[in-house]
Amino acid sequence: GTRLDADSKSSAMSTVFFGTIVHTKSFNEFESFEKGFLVVDDCGKIIGIGHDYQEWVSSNPVRAKDLREVWLTDCQFIMPGFVDCHIHAPQFAQVGLGLDMPLLDWLNTYTFPLEAKFSDQQYAQQVYQSVVHATLRCGTTLASYFATNHLESTLILAREAVRQGQRALVGKVCSNCNSPDFYVETAEESASATLAFVEEMRKLGSSLVLPTITPRFALSCSKELLKELGGIAKRFDLHVQSHISENLAEIEMVKGIFKSSYAKAYDEAGLLTNKTVMAHGVHLEDDEVALFRTRGCSVAHCPASNTMLSSGLCDIQRLVNNGVTVGLGTDVSGGNSVSIQDALLRTLDVSKHLDFFKKQNIRGTGKAKAQDPNYVPLKYKQAMYLATLGGAKALSLDHLTGNFALGKEFDALLVDVSVVENPVRRLNVDELVEKFIYTGNDRNILEVFVAGKPVKNDCQLK
Ligand code: GUN
Ligand code: ZN
Repeated sequence: GTRLDADSKSSAMSTVFFGTIVHTKSFNEFESFEKGFLVVDDCGKIIGIGHDYQEWVSSNPVRAKDLREVWLTDCQFIMPGFVDCHIHAPQFAQVGLGLDMPLLDWLNTYTFPLEAKFSDQQYAQQVYQSVVHATLRCGTTLASYFATNHLESTLILAREAVRQGQRALVGKVCSNCNSPDFYVETAEESASATLAFVEEMRKLGSSLVLPTITPRFALSCSKELLKELGGIAKRFDLHVQSHISENLAEIEMVKGIFKSSYAKAYDEAGLLTNKTVMAHGVHLEDDEVALFRTRGCSVAHCPASNTMLSSGLCDIQRLVNNGVTVGLGTDVSGGNSVSIQDALLRTLDVSKHLDFFKKQNIRGTGKAKAQDPNYVPLKYKQAMYLATLGGAKALSLDHLTGNFALGKEFDALLVDVSVVENPVRRLNVDELVEKFIYTGNDRNILEVFVAGKPVKNDCQLK
């Protein structure tokens, strides 16, 4: 076998991995290949996967020549990279700090003052370099980033993702009202900087990093600005990201201003599309869930943040069962961790807690309508789907990534469950994955690949 050393990293050679390969095909479909193979071509695309390598070789005799072989150990496996559907790159500077307030106070006290500092491009460069590095280390091969209001700094984030080889959606944040005077734009400034950002991204011409239209949330944008942004998204066929129905006080304010539901406030501006992902959705009402399904837009479930900022318990089974695509988000720094693996575990936790509330009459809680004897808590393989293919679908990039379907890009993790602690006996495929999900962390992620290229570069920080 060949070790993944510095030399082999630089060569664009086709590679075949031998060993345990796992991925998901849908919410309820997990697929594994024990003693399997996976072939990646020199462009980083998956051209073979299965149990029987000899069969693949005989039907692909030309491609099978000159393959670099990588043999996994019994404690290792390959899985799709993690997708973070919602993360605030500037807030990495305060991750783990200031989590003692609900949303609107938290924004005013900590977050707006922090983000205002990103008018300083040197500071932005420093923070953005670190956040891309940190998320890659944790196995995030695709992230949907909010930057700040500032055009120049947002471009710095996009260039940094390209430089470090992370697949990303990057948004210049838009906010023209209900914001402090040290961190606000006019609607005209917001729209023209957004257009300039889209144009600069086109010039950058990266296939990895795309611009995404990013109204901060309905509260911080006038109806006119939302409409303008909806128009830009449509004109250039762009992705859209924002927040929805995170916190009860926030929702009351939005309803008061827009005289409609939260979802309708966005829909009337043309912002709910099949390339839209909205963070949280903790308190979405039935008609809003139905609208999401009709429009084909998705929810980024951010369990850490929903707990830290006291937003609530989001019932994602309800969303999934009603045909809404769900992915996971860290929501740094409302969430305290940059790791999607962490979000995955918290997703399982929240689902268990909901199960308790829905099935037990816990004293002092549990209104009759909150009870549901038929609730089925999430399984770890479903959570793994949400952290990978679900996220890719939520970001409308599942034609490129999210699992190991032939023709997709090889965005993947090489996991070793023995790094921290050796299992006491040999584990089967399911157990390897289960062990990683419940006890693993970034130390178990030996290598991270984006489009076939190893990107977990520990020397990346200058
Ligand atoms: N709503 C508007 N802005 C933010 C933000 O930065 N974080 C979270 N969690 N919610 C928001
Ligand atoms: Zn957020």
